[in-house]
Amino acid sequence: MADYDVIVIGGGPGGYVCAIRCAQLGLKTACVEGRETLGGTCLNVGCIPSKALLHASHSLHEAEHNFAKMGLKGKSPSVDWKEMLAYKDDVIGQNTKGIEFLFKKNKVDWLKGWGSIPAAGQVKVGDEVHNAKHIVIASGSEPSSLPGVEVDEKVVVTSTGALELSKIPRKMIVIGAGVIGLEMGSVYARLGSEVTVVEFLDDITPGMDKDIQKTFQRTLKKQGLNFIMGAAVQNVDAKKTKATVNYKLRKDDSEHAIDADVVLVATGRRPFVDGLGLEAAGVKMTERGQIATDHWKTSVPGIWAIGDVTEGPMLAHKAEDEGMAAAESIAGQAGHVNYDVIPGVIYTSPEVASVGKTEQELKEAGVDYKVGKFSFMGNGRAKAVFQGDGFVKILADKATDRVLGVHIMGPAAGELIHEACVLMEYGGSAEDLARTCHAHPTFSEAVREAALACGDGAIHA
Ligand code: FAD
Ligand code: NAI
Repeated sequence: MADYDVIVIGGGPGGYVCAIRCAQLGLKTACVEGRETLGGTCLNVGCIPSKALLHASHSLHEAEHNFAKMGLKGKSPSVDWKEMLAYKDDVIGQNTKGIEFLFKKNKVDWLKGWGSIPAAGQVKVGDEVHNAKHIVIASGSEPSSLPGVEVDEKVVVTSTGALELSKIPRKMIVIGAGVIGLEMGSVYARLGSEVTVVEFLDDITPGMDKDIQKTFQRTLKKQGLNFIMGAAVQNVDAKKTKATVNYKLRKDDSEHAIDADVVLVATGRRPFVDGLGLEAAGVKMTERGQIATDHWKTSVPGIWAIGDVTEGPMLAHKAEDEGMAAAESIAGQAGHVNYDVIPGVIYTSPEVASVGKTEQELKEAGVDYKVGKFSFMGNGRAKAVFQGDGFVKILADKATDRVLGVHIMGPAAGELIHEACVLMEYGGSAEDLARTCHAHPTFSEAVREAALACGDGAIHA
């Protein structure tokens, strides 16, 4: 008889959610995690610590730039970096301990150590081999660097090192204008660093709607971030306390160099499968090194895979949804993830949030669409809190009015996007949204106005 019905390998958002759901569905479940704490990348060195530093640095920015405008006078707060890091660590601790508590509450065994799969139905942790009817791989991802760039996590850092620098750098170079680069770049720019972002492409945040890319970059520039676009980084020459980034501009192949105290390499992440023994177990991989899956099943019966280690966006909520769906499928239910409605949020200020198709994607697919756009300048609440920059853009099918994509840059965009998600999940139209009463004064009214703009017109535009 198997020791467990399910063993989940990896205690990140994919793995821990899957393990809890399996236990809730009556399956005897264990979760293997090699880190000292549960929660994976997200809670330990990702979503949660980065949001803590974004919150702290945003608060400083508010005090420096907006307090006096509201008649709040006095000396701006000064930064005690060690205490700010301690606050961030405390937030991490509260969250990771929370998962430990949830494991106990739901009777999920935490098998501490690094797991491998000697054969289908078996998971080895340390010297012990545990049997399981089902194995779920949720081993996540790790930062991927560039050729010619050696990471020491002190001068040349990934996001992990950037969350615990020994001091706030005077100059920071960020390689990659993606989500990590812009979030962490914003943190240090607000804390006083001179931040330069070096990006290979001509636009920031690849894959986002072009309107958002342009307005977002303009706003970040106003906040003091410098951008070098269309630049291919050749290598980084690191010394003890300084580094030089050598790059070529793609338009003319000209060679350039810039110096900084810290270089953050934020050029993407890759699936983490080291030590799992997947090849011997016969688990098929994609060309990009992800575990190939079909409805979270791998090529080997009884072995499942979810989250960052599989295809799709590397997002905590995508991993969590897959965790629940895989658990439900294992329990004989119909697991479900709607991959067309997975929101993406960048937690800068203003926030950027997006769900569904971009205008470029609709054009390429030859879909006849209409656009409803509304600026936060026309939203009383946003103006009251100095957040009139940005807009809501709704893309709807021209013939049916069904909402196909929503893109928001503005206050609380990461919260506002969810009314679009629910609407899209139910196949709703712009008119459905426009006819829904929205409380005043809220940022959400801007979403409704954009929906009105898809029809007869917004009121406050
Ligand atoms: P992970 O969280 O990577 O967890 C995998 C776990 O498995 C790890 O703890 C690892 O130690 C463990 N493991 C691996 N192999 C083994 C083994 N053999 N045995 C035992 N344990 C093993 N996403 C968002 O949605 N929102 C955000 O705001 C956000 N911010 C981010 C900020 C940063 C700086 C970074 C780096 C990422 C951020 N992400 C964010 C992405 C998010 O962290 C990931 O998408 C998410 O953590 C993926 O979850 P996962 O469970 O698939 O893998
Ligand atoms: P990313 O894929 O978002 O961005 C990488 C950027 O680096 C791209 O703009 C790319 O063009 C650029 N780049 C690649 N090679 C380059 C080179 N040689 N020179 C210059 N630029 C180069 O990856 P990032 O920011 O590292 O994030 C990794 C993952 O973590 C993402 O998939 C993201 O989903 C997740 N994440 C999510 C967050 C959120 O949801 N708020 C926050 C942080 C990370």
